[in-house]
Amino acid sequence: MTDLLDSLFAGRAGGFRPSPVRDFWEVSMEPGIISLAGGNPDLSVLPLDALGEVAARVIRERGLEVLQYGGGTGAPGAREAAARTMAAEGLDVDPDLVQVTAGSQLGLDLVVKLLCDPGDVVLAEGPSYVGAIGLFVGMQVDVAHVPIDGDGLLPEALAETIARVRAAGRRVKALYTIPNFHNPSGVTLAAERRPEVARICRDAGIAIIEDNPYGLLSFDGGTLPSLRSLDPDNVIYLGSFSKVVAPGLRVGWVVAPESLRRPLQLASEATVICASVLSQAVVEEYVLRHDWLDVLAGARGRYQARATAVLDALATGAGPDVTWSVPRGGFFTWVTLPAGTDVHAVLDAAIERRVVFVPGSAFYADGGGAEQLRLAFSLEREEVLAEGVRRLLDAVTEVTT
Ligand SMILES: Cc1ncc(COP(=O)(O)O)c(C=O)c1O
Repeated sequence: MTDLLDSLFAGRAGGFRPSPVRDFWEVSMEPGIISLAGGNPDLSVLPLDALGEVAARVIRERGLEVLQYGGGTGAPGAREAAARTMAAEGLDVDPDLVQVTAGSQLGLDLVVKLLCDPGDVVLAEGPSYVGAIGLFVGMQVDVAHVPIDGDGLLPEALAETIARVRAAGRRVKALYTIPNFHNPSGVTLAAERRPEVARICRDAGIAIIEDNPYGLLSFDGGTLPSLRSLDPDNVIYLGSFSKVVAPGLRVGWVVAPESLRRPLQLASEATVICASVLSQAVVEEYVLRHDWLDVLAGARGRYQARATAVLDALATGAGPDVTWSVPRGGFFTWVTLPAGTDVHAVLDAAIERRVVFVPGSAFYADGGGAEQLRLAFSLEREEVLAEGVRRLLDAVTEVTT
């Protein structure tokens, strides 16, 4: 029998693709595999006893509130926690402006729903975050990639891309950008480029979606001025507790310019009613009443040591035609293989050697990234990472010689 649903699907139903990063989940779990693929935070730094006590206490003492439906913009305590997190990065935001979402992925989904019609174009770094590309493509929004270098987006290339897309008769709605410790490239948008990027977008009449889940994860504890601080009326800021507390809580937030705030709340209510009130209460108690920034400083130290292990192993073993980014925070480095290398052949050879990574093409909507790959260093110990890089470089040698 034919499935009746087959004829009923909406036009966009086929657009949602499996995440290439999640595709590697299963192979990453095989015994003996070294995974340089997933960008998961290291949760072993978390004070689980304290968090367990927080979760038990909020249910015991505030159960009738936190197990009930909550307000559409989020619980006051979680909004305060989001504002404090931004303050830790030097950004002063009134908690009343915060829209809590079930992770920043939902924040992006809501923003795309409100800004983009099918056929609109969003600009994004080339490469860009796979979850954003998957969302844009699924929502029938085209992605035009803007080239980057070791200092992030190239402002001239941004202006050229806007002009080129417009000359083709297309409507550009927004620049989606990850300015700090970019996923997947690891690079950070240089401080001197930020005002220029903000100005180009404002002059062109396109919004900026600033996605900043990694901003508090610099290795040296430093921060850079956010795009939002440079043009608050044209920047939609996405924040998340996923990388600085825990992704399983699913709590993120949006700070939007005035005109978008009410539509965001209504779109959020129409989509999820409210983010988990229980998770919001756990975040509130943890962020407002624990020394969570000290815990985070410990995590940053670990990430830095792991990044160093990967970069040292690359420097020791890579041939002269292999290059890589040098991250100053976050979870990733981006490797470029010799021209003409088939990265999928390298992946097959790497899996034979029991190491896995994500090929660069996953991070482009247009087939780019053919000779590149992302290495995540957030989860494995230094010696394991170094061994993983050695095996990867053996695989590169096998494929290129
Ligand atoms: C750049 C970027 N944005 C958003 C997300 C999703 O964050 P959340 O867990 O808050 O939905 C991720 C997760 O990997 C990410 O790397």
